[in-house]
Amino acid sequence: MCGIVGYLGKQQAAPILLDGLSKLEYRGYDSAGICVFAENRFCVEKTKGRLSALSELTEVGTTLPGTMGIGHTRWATHGAPSQINSHPHVSTNGKICVVHNGIIENYQSLKSYLMEQGKTFVSETDTEVAANLLELYYEEEGDLLQAAFRARETLVGSYALGILCIDQPDSILAMKKESPLIFGFGEGENFIASDAPAILKYTRKVVYLNNGDMVRFTKDSAVFYNALGEECVREPELITWEMTAAEKGGYPHFMLKEIHEQPKALRDTLHPRMKDGQVCLEGLTLTEDYLRNIRRIYIVACGSAYYVGCVGKYILEKTCRIPVEPVLASEFRYCEPVLGDDTLVIIISQSGETADTLAALRESRSLGARTLAIVNVVGSAISKEADDVIYTWAGPEIAVATTKAYSTQLSVLYLIALYMGKLLGTWVGEAYEQMYRALTQLPEAMEQMLTCDCLKHIEDHAEALCRKHDVFFIGRNTDSATCLEGSLKLKEIAYVHSEAYAAGELKHGPISLIEQDTLVIALATMEALFEKTLSNMEEVKARGAHVLAVTTEETAGKLKKAADRVILVPRTHPLLQPSLSVIPLQIFSYYVALKRGCDVDKPRNLAKSVTVE
Ligand code: AGP
Repeated sequence: MCGIVGYLGKQQAAPILLDGLSKLEYRGYDSAGICVFAENRFCVEKTKGRLSALSELTEVGTTLPGTMGIGHTRWATHGAPSQINSHPHVSTNGKICVVHNGIIENYQSLKSYLMEQGKTFVSETDTEVAANLLELYYEEEGDLLQAAFRARETLVGSYALGILCIDQPDSILAMKKESPLIFGFGEGENFIASDAPAILKYTRKVVYLNNGDMVRFTKDSAVFYNALGEECVREPELITWEMTAAEKGGYPHFMLKEIHEQPKALRDTLHPRMKDGQVCLEGLTLTEDYLRNIRRIYIVACGSAYYVGCVGKYILEKTCRIPVEPVLASEFRYCEPVLGDDTLVIIISQSGETADTLAALRESRSLGARTLAIVNVVGSAISKEADDVIYTWAGPEIAVATTKAYSTQLSVLYLIALYMGKLLGTWVGEAYEQMYRALTQLPEAMEQMLTCDCLKHIEDHAEALCRKHDVFFIGRNTDSATCLEGSLKLKEIAYVHSEAYAAGELKHGPISLIEQDTLVIALATMEALFEKTLSNMEEVKARGAHVLAVTTEETAGKLKKAADRVILVPRTHPLLQPSLSVIPLQIFSYYVALKRGCDVDKPRNLAKSVTVE
């Protein structure tokens, strides 16, 4: 989704804004723009397309003078990607200039009202309404802060706004509701941004603004206001991760780098929480009594995080003997979930900002359920609002297609399974110990799968199969849940139509789509169900399918003629197998995307953090 950067200091602003925006490219965008305040006027440059076009237009920002400015990468919601619809937007009388991330839901009625008041519009965006509303209120109040307080009452929806006023050459105003926004303290310079990588080169001292917060800052000072409009103190936090974590580090793509980072991410997430045979979930406020009384667990998330929940259902039901229901966050609020104080809602989100997931979290809390969030981004909205948080220590994930966040989310569910299973007495003794031991060894097992030889082997399959246009993923039990993620990976980065089915379900309809050479990727890593999946592979093979099997060495010998190609994964504890089975699917999609000439890290139409419903 849209990215925002703001700078006010002693240096030329435009190159810093462009640099900051380049660190937000991962969020997904279709146009970009900047506005600097110089010689008592706004200088705005914007273009449709990649940031490189804007950089070229402004000679890397050097043609724009001024030491104060705001920048934006736009992911179109209202109005097509175009120069006119790009941000920043300047108000009718040229007094206000804004960049915006979010959606102004009442923009149509506001637009009509503002037109009656003489304001004019050039774009189709909802953002231009915010610019004109602020201008109208500023004209009426004679004070920008008061105008902003009033606008906050009027605007319905979500926004992170960076605001320049023509009469205020030394300060920037920013406000936040739902959409992410951070403030960065520098030395003689200050910043705002949608996410830390944009400003990490300049400062590590940041404030994650709360909902309803506003900040007015100069190069040397910052005053914060809370949702009630009262001046307040916001303590800065120090970002501890290194900038290199958000750079490619020699890899051609972030996605490949992040695939390789999975063993480390898993170690960082698991090992501090596993000591002397015990799982320690530090800081958890859920009491043992509460956990003992849970009658139902919902896992609520979007996209890949939801698919983690689909695997989690098998794991938690097996270990804790409590019904678990994964639900898409975008559906959760509208399906009248049966919630109460005996329901635990596990919320999963890498960004911690996904609008639907955040809304589901709030709905759960308002209906009396306890919420436990599994989140990667410290200080994100979900991490702040959930009753309990367990962080995935995956580090910044930049590629739009998740890999290491998915893996660490799954690993946290294993921890919860062990923790709760032991507490409830449903997963104890040898069952507990075997799983615990295998979990400590999981990062090493993953490492074995990321050698050059393994990657080359999968790349060869990708080379041979990259022109297939319809792909079916089949598997049983946790394999079927992993298929969902494998299929999403192929769709989102390689633009290949694919579908995932529980293997036994194919003959109830979809098998009619299998023709000569249709690619079927069959996951058969569950030893107990291998023969069953094998039968399903034979069924599609008999109808002409080209079968790529993913299985373990122990079972590969039984495949005989059911598969045309085979990828082997190491065997681990059956409940942990999904963590290894997903790896070749990530790598396969990566190479297919590469061979099809796709923009692997920034796939079309997608945004890393989906902050609109
Ligand atoms: C995964 O590759 C996707 N980019 C997407 O499905 C993602 O998992 C989903 O949008 C949820 O995001 P979140 O984890 O930040 O909430």
